[in-house]
Amino acid sequence: MVNSEYVLRAATADEHDRFYGLFAAAMMFESTPTDLDRELFEPERALVAVDGDQLVGTAKAMTRDLSVPGAVVSAAHVTAVGVRPTHRRQGILSGLMRRQLTDVPEALAVLWASEAGIYGRFGYAPAAWGVSYEVDLRTVRPHPVSGGRVEEVLAEDAPAQLAPLLKELQAKRPGVSGRSEQVWRKQLQDKPEHRGGRTPRQILVHRDEAGAVDGYALWRGKMNWGPTGPANEVTVEELVALEPTAYHALWRHLLTLDLAAKLAYSHAAVDEPLQQLVSNPVALNRRLTESLWVRLTDVPRALAQRRYAVATDVVIEVTDDLIKANNGRFHLTGDTQQAMCEPTDSAPDLSLSVNELSAAYLGGRALSEFAATGRVTESTPGALATTTAAFSWPTAPQSLEVF
Ligand SMILES: CC(C)(COP(=O)(O)OP(=O)(O)OC[C@H]1O[C@@H](n2cnc3c(N)ncnc32)[C@H](O)[C@@H]1OP(=O)(O)O)[C@@H](O)C(=O)NCCC(=O)NCCS
Repeated sequence: MVNSEYVLRAATADEHDRFYGLFAAAMMFESTPTDLDRELFEPERALVAVDGDQLVGTAKAMTRDLSVPGAVVSAAHVTAVGVRPTHRRQGILSGLMRRQLTDVPEALAVLWASEAGIYGRFGYAPAAWGVSYEVDLRTVRPHPVSGGRVEEVLAEDAPAQLAPLLKELQAKRPGVSGRSEQVWRKQLQDKPEHRGGRTPRQILVHRDEAGAVDGYALWRGKMNWGPTGPANEVTVEELVALEPTAYHALWRHLLTLDLAAKLAYSHAAVDEPLQQLVSNPVALNRRLTESLWVRLTDVPRALAQRRYAVATDVVIEVTDDLIKANNGRFHLTGDTQQAMCEPTDSAPDLSLSVNELSAAYLGGRALSEFAATGRVTESTPGALATTTAAFSWPTAPQSLEVF
């Protein structure tokens, strides 16, 4: 329970810098808010916990869209969660989460967690894995490629050229957050204090033979001189290219930069095609990480908003400790083109909690994985296999940015 001395309320527009300052202090980074941060602030969607005249807790939801299997939907993008160190473990986060989850108008909320132990109790579950690469550039051996050309572009010209490619990716891959023009500008901000000794961000585009931009990459370098000579480090922040030649050419360019010995990339998908384009995939040095967490806040609406890999007709029984309306049985029918989900009194085929349903929502985790630990139970023989297949998706979810 929240200690009754603390008031929970929506922030006001003039509280932005205090709000951001408290979150920055909770995360231990220096707060340097810009006018753009203030412009993007949605005070009515930002909650604060207040002790006297001191802010002691923050949590906000940003209005953005997200690609899910077969659709792009509104999803509350939860961020800036922090509690003042002197006020921790007194239920402030629990109070903020409960209020936020019952308030959000979207059918789902998503976030990146700083630590894996925080959000499961509020019904969130990791729904997308990320893969980190630490590539040994001296041994990876990328395959040659020809066609089109790689060019540098200036940050001010970038949003207009890059935005259509991100939209195209959203149509193909679940887990990708949409960006308004303002969010693009924020994403491309390049504060010197956030470079960590690396170069300013370099923006590359690939142009096809006809001159059209069909891929982009954002990267930075860092000079490093070892005892045996140059051993520079390349950090790839983002790479989006749906045309095979653009994808291959951008990666080849980054994997063959002179003086570099190492390349880091933190947001690869589990089905990232890069491994096919090098002779020595082991040199990619891959590590699995948790990426996007999902929490369904309106189960029937969320299930009707996505599409299903194969036709499904199933009754799912859901439990949810936090959102009352999510408890019950829901009749889901759907396929690759449409879906419907309504409350029902019929006997369930499968039973689970909102955590497992949230985990499987983006198509990146199998319901059968949870049956193996008793967290999904099957009442109708065969329902687990067919519903697992329906919830899966041909492309793995991928979240490109920590928001
Ligand atoms: C994470 C944080 C917001 C938790 O706030 P809090 O007000 O102390 O949390 P609560 O008191 O409501 O705790 C609720 C429960 O979560 C648990 N919990 C809280 N933080 C946790 C953590 N980091 N890891 C695991 N469990 C955690 C508590 O033990 C408590 O469990 P209990 O009810 O069984 O005792 C706070 O510790 C913080 O600001 N951390 C640094 C910033 C940060 O990591 N923010 C998250 C960004 S994604």
